[in-house]
Amino acid sequence: MIVIGSDHGGFSLKEEIKKHLEARGTQYVDIGCHNTNSVDYPDIAKEACQKITDGQCNMGILICGTGIGISMAANKVKGIRAACCSDCFSAKYTRLHNNANVLCMGGRIVAPGLAEMMVDLFLDTQFEGGRHQRRIDKITAIEQE
Ligand code: RB5
Repeated sequence: MIVIGSDHGGFSLKEEIKKHLEARGTQYVDIGCHNTNSVDYPDIAKEACQKITDGQCNMGILICGTGIGISMAANKVKGIRAACCSDCFSAKYTRLHNNANVLCMGGRIVAPGLAEMMVDLFLDTQFEGGRHQRRIDKITAIEQE
């Protein structure tokens, strides 16, 4: 189960990605926003990430205007590794090497076709583990400080 959310700057891309998730048979929960009225991206990030940390969802897709603000907010939640991506290589390697559990994108930056490719790479790529696990453990240790 995927959680998807956006602020007003990412609303339009979120709606496109939802259609893509439906086409590929991926279940999701949409926590909003539900129109282009202005909302604050930290509120969306917090609610979405809590669905991951409490086990209701295993991954997330978050979108704001740039993808930056919502990724900054998401990464403040313990256990969240959010990656702001604008290219396919990053979307794939953040799964392989960083075991990212949230993909962030900029609705004012990324076109729907590229976003769909990034979503597929992100959702379909498994973490490599090995030496990368040690580095993830060090990220987690920073979180505990
Ligand atoms: C909202 O206008 C905009 O600041 C937000 O969507 C995002 O780009 C922040 O990083």
